[in-house]
Amino acid sequence: MTETATLSHQNIITTKDLSVNDIETILDTSDSFKEISTRAIKKVPTLRGRTIINLFFEPSTRTRTSFEIAGKRLSADVINISGAGSSIVKGESLIDTAKNLEAMSPDILVVRHNCSGAPSLISDFVNCPVINAGDGMHEHPTQSLLDLLTIREHKGTFKGLKIAIVGDITHSRVARSNIQAMQTMGMKVKVVAPPTLIPVEIEKMGVDVCYDLGQGIKDADVIMILRIQLERQNQGLLSSLREYSNYFCLTAKHLANVSDDTLIIHPGPVNRGIEISLDVLQGSRSLILNQVTNGVAVRMALFYLLLGESDANSN
Ligand code: CP
Repeated sequence: MTETATLSHQNIITTKDLSVNDIETILDTSDSFKEISTRAIKKVPTLRGRTIINLFFEPSTRTRTSFEIAGKRLSADVINISGAGSSIVKGESLIDTAKNLEAMSPDILVVRHNCSGAPSLISDFVNCPVINAGDGMHEHPTQSLLDLLTIREHKGTFKGLKIAIVGDITHSRVARSNIQAMQTMGMKVKVVAPPTLIPVEIEKMGVDVCYDLGQGIKDADVIMILRIQLERQNQGLLSSLREYSNYFCLTAKHLANVSDDTLIIHPGPVNRGIEISLDVLQGSRSLILNQVTNGVAVRMALFYLLLGESDANSN
């Protein structure tokens, strides 16, 4: 890579900010970085001397680890801070936390928070780029980008593809980020769930709505199954998990009625047997682990595009 492409925004907070050109640039750059993770020595000097802080106030396996691996594969110094291990527990405010971290000259802050808007708020108070690693029920833009990379690898294009997003749409930041990004790329989005798990007026986002799993997925090129967010189900939106599973768990029986080319994706973590059956999870159409692999490449691409090549490389 000789000249670093640029993105239209310095912060990655919402997929609303990403143009077709931004998304194509990120996916093309991710493609070029994937090979590094297949090498015996999985490291290049691209971001030598740069510092990345991962600030995670919510649990995470995939996102936190892949941001850390992405930074390390590019030779950046990566610092991980959890909410529980920070002075937030002593009463320090989010803004003071961010300002104090900024005083140590990081080049990027990656933020996951249970409150919608927290990464955006931080970006108003620091000068370095901020990447939203998932904020409350708002957005998870890097998940959407890795989902798009996975779809493009298998379908070659986005234009005209139909996706059915199935499950807990109301609580899903993944759904919100993906609806916007997939529509930007020319995909047609349908949401499929019981009425209580679909936000009111979601049609205003330009999606079709279906309350029946079989009907909802029958013409889909891609089925995205969402996790039932057990930690957010105290509002009486479901009568029971068993009833949800009876009507909305994707099983081999459902897949018998869709095209053999239909892809299955899921952002994880998976509740086995609740939203997806074990045989579908482990079947040949499931790309769930491909998504995880692509998460590293997408996050490497974002670091590279936001920071450019380190000057340290010429020394
Ligand atoms: N997909 C996702 O955000 O997973 P984690 O919560 O494990 O990061």
